[in-house]
Amino acid sequence: MAELLRTEKLRKYFGMVSATDDIDLRIEDGVLTSIIGPNGAGKTTLINLLTGNLLPDSGKIFFQGEEITHLPTHKRVKKGMCRSFQIMNIFPKLSVFENLQIPVLSLLDRSLSFFKHVRSHHDANERVEKLLTEIGLIEKKDLPAGTLSHGDQRLLEIGLAMAPEPKLLFLDEPTAGMNPVERLKVLENIRRLSREKEATFVIIEHDMDIVFSLSDRIVVLHRGQILADGKPDQIKEDEAVRKVYLGEEILWERV
Ligand SMILES: Nc1ncnc2c1ncn2[C@@H]1O[C@H](COP(=O)(O)OP(=O)(O)O)[C@@H](O)[C@H]1O
Ligand SMILES: [Mg+2]
Repeated sequence: MAELLRTEKLRKYFGMVSATDDIDLRIEDGVLTSIIGPNGAGKTTLINLLTGNLLPDSGKIFFQGEEITHLPTHKRVKKGMCRSFQIMNIFPKLSVFENLQIPVLSLLDRSLSFFKHVRSHHDANERVEKLLTEIGLIEKKDLPAGTLSHGDQRLLEIGLAMAPEPKLLFLDEPTAGMNPVERLKVLENIRRLSREKEATFVIIEHDMDIVFSLSDRIVVLHRGQILADGKPDQIKEDEAVRKVYLGEEILWERV
């Protein structure tokens, strides 16, 4: 399996707190990986380090074999690493199509001529249509983005993150705040996109049903370290993981 991303002894401390404690992690191409762990385990810090929103105290990050430890976020995006945007990045009054057109045009380096030539940018529009089909929003392309359901807005966010055609895409709680129908739709889309190898997904998620139904591989973080790493069935049976999630560890330590 080809390696997309690798960390070597990646470390980030906040004062005395080891948010990321010498983590060695490999992300393989095409393997849908979920990162889970209790609150404060270090999930967000790890993703921030990988995407360049934070710099580590020590350790290294490699993307497709090339060291990127200190590369700014926008340069990581150019290399093919993206992160889903939050809802704030959606323009509610613009149509779904126009929302996607903005990053696609700007990636084609034509943002300056945006207002003059929107209609004539056939290649950009084709790319937008393809994205809309991929995320399952083609039939809603002319609706103002603000009128979409919460689930469809999250799909649009995923589309925005996919606009640069990333090889690796981080999604932070992609189904947060959704009803079960929307959740299923988003999950099915992520699963399909992953199968179609449009991108390799790394997902941070709290909902264990989602994690176990969606993931090829699960990495469990606890106190800044990797507690367990394996296929969903292996993680389900893992004693250390059970203890952390059942809160038994605290009792254990007191003994
Ligand atoms: N900016 C920060 N300043 C101080 N402490 C932080 C900061 N960000 C995270 N932490 C601490 O680092 C640890 C890991 O946090 P975080 O990565 O947010 O965990 P998770 O996303 O798994 O809930 C926690 O103990 C948290 O309090
Ligand atoms: Mg977090």
